[in-house]
Amino acid sequence: MKKSWIITIVSLVIMVPLLLLLVSIKENKAEQQAINAVPDIKKLDPRSSEWGKYFPRQYDSYIQTRKSDEIKDILKDDPNLVVLWAGYGFSKDYNAPRGHFYALEDNINTLRTGAPVDEKTGPMPTACWTCKSPDVPRLIDEIGEHDYFTGAWARFGGEIVNSIGCADCHNNETMQLNVTRDYLKRALDAEGSLKFSDATHQDLRSLVCAQCHVEYYFKPTKWTDENGQEQTAKVVTLPWNNGFAAEDMEEYYDERDFSDWTHKLSKTPMLKAQHPGYETFITGAHGQNGLACADCHMPYVREGGVKYSNHKVGSPLDDIANTCLNCHQGTEKEFKAKIDRKLERKNELAREATDILAKAHLEAARAWELGATEEDMKAALQDIRHGQWRWDYAVAAHGAFFHAPEEILRVLGGAINKAHDARLKLRVILAELGDTNYEAPAYASKEEAQELVGLPMDELVEEKKEFINGLKQEWFEMGKEKGIYDPKLREGMKLKTSFN
Ligand code: HEC
Ligand code: HEC
Ligand code: HEC
Ligand code: HEC
Repeated sequence: MKKSWIITIVSLVIMVPLLLLLVSIKENKAEQQAINAVPDIKKLDPRSSEWGKYFPRQYDSYIQTRKSDEIKDILKDDPNLVVLWAGYGFSKDYNAPRGHFYALEDNINTLRTGAPVDEKTGPMPTACWTCKSPDVPRLIDEIGEHDYFTGAWARFGGEIVNSIGCADCHNNETMQLNVTRDYLKRALDAEGSLKFSDATHQDLRSLVCAQCHVEYYFKPTKWTDENGQEQTAKVVTLPWNNGFAAEDMEEYYDERDFSDWTHKLSKTPMLKAQHPGYETFITGAHGQNGLACADCHMPYVREGGVKYSNHKVGSPLDDIANTCLNCHQGTEKEFKAKIDRKLERKNELAREATDILAKAHLEAARAWELGATEEDMKAALQDIRHGQWRWDYAVAAHGAFFHAPEEILRVLGGAINKAHDARLKLRVILAELGDTNYEAPAYASKEEAQELVGLPMDELVEEKKEFINGLKQEWFEMGKEKGIYDPKLREGMKLKTSFN
């Protein structure tokens, strides 16, 4: 080959990659400039696509939470839950969490929020919107916390129209992480181990999640409106004054004689655990070693020369290489197996707890039927209350089996103990009332259990469907008229529920 040919080929081999590199540096620069441009976003703008104009990578990954769209009916998996929650909305409908893209949609569609026909009807208070939408901090900013927490859930159907978004976690001017819910700040200060004003940036990488992934209740709070009328707000409140453990919160509720509802069969004043995700996480190995939720659920990823946080909040198992294997040695398969084994252990004890608790409720119902007095029943019902609270605390934050495996198994052990205590007491009461061999009725499915606890499911589903085709549609129209609705957040959404 001629010398000049060789020179040409060699220089091409050198030049082409260099040119490509130059182009890519230029592109990265342009992108970096766009990212560095001062974003022009309105304060608390609930429309995430407006923020996405300045932060396309975060937005594109955030919108991918739509991929986690499967409905998993937990009542179907364990019909005992229908009995455990008799007389309370959860016995009608309860599904495993899906992606943040669906948070608002699932809140509107669940049978638990009922079928309102106007802004005053429906079983739930406004507080039920609180961890579903960036329209919540916007509304609180506009009308004040007390007014926001007053009235029926349907009151704000036309105001709360966007699922969880940028404004829930970020300041519009600085893009700094931002806690937009004051009840979290108050609860941290009351608990005392981490005052909100001392929170570091790493703390905030968990606290933005703790705005929603926590235990809470609705605290009745009196206030006077601008017309001098006395009103009662139901304010989201985290029961943290005595600490984060199951027993600490149980004590908090007992001190206040608080119950979420009275059990339909056993007449126990019950507690419903919500999802104490933050509280349980900080007791585990990762929490104790200073990790934050974002370390596993929003890992940094690289694209070209740009490093950013993956906003597709979901299962870390989808990206073990960028999460677990950043710190641990091993293979993806090993880590998946480790997590599966932890889940099995939790499920084994949790299933045992729900079996015994369901029997205790049914046996208590039998004792009432035979004429037991409140005095007879008091101690047994207290055991049911405490046992079911502990079980619920351990399982309701769906990731806790992994975040804090030892603590969760300990609390489930406590739940099983308390439930057995209740049944022993009930055996004595039943024997005294002449029924020594009582056997609680059996049920093989969610449907049979729902019939047993007297739920008119066909009627509830019918009403709900009417609501979904009627008032629900009007709400998004109202949001559109107000200019707050972001249609991109519902693009391609299909109606998926446990009942359609
Ligand atoms: C404004 C309230 C809110 C905030 C803030 C929030 N979440 Fe969620 N999260 C929810 C709700 C509600 C769901 C359930 C959505 C559904 O099932 O429709 C959920 C679901 C999830 C899921 C399940 C996703 C799936 O695909 O199964 C994970 C994991 C999760 N959140 C983690 C986090 C982490 C980590 C943070 C902080 C970076 C966070 N969340 C911040 C309310 C919130
Ligand atoms: C549930 C809370 C949450 C939501 C919702 C959220 N972010 Fe973030 N965001 C975070 C966390 C946590 C970080 C990591 C911060 C850090 O490590 O400095 C982050 C980081 C960022 C950063 C800094 C660069 C980076 O990638 O680390 C930008 C920019 C950003 N988010 C934009 C957005 C935009 C745009 C949206 C809406 C489409 C959004 N975020 C929604 C929690 C959230
Ligand atoms: C060390 C990594 C790690 C950290 C840190 C972490 N998680 Fe998780 N999380 C996991 C794993 C692993 C799972 C189980 C995922 C699965 O089973 O698919 C999980 C599950 C979850 C789930 C249940 C998801 C579902 O669909 O059932 C939620 C919600 C959740 N985590 C929220 C949080 C919150 C909130 C924090 C911070 C308070 C946090 N996580 C911190 C690793 C982590
Ligand atoms: C940022 C670093 C970091 C990441 C990311 C991380 N870990 Fe860890 N992990 C730790 C540290 C630190 C400990 C505590 C080690 C000790 O106490 O000796 C730990 C402990 C553990 C343990 C033993 C304690 C227990 O709870 O059983 C397991 C199992 C584990 N990690 C699994 C995982 C999995 C699975 C993931 C991914 C979903 C993950 N880790 C992600 C740092 C990390």
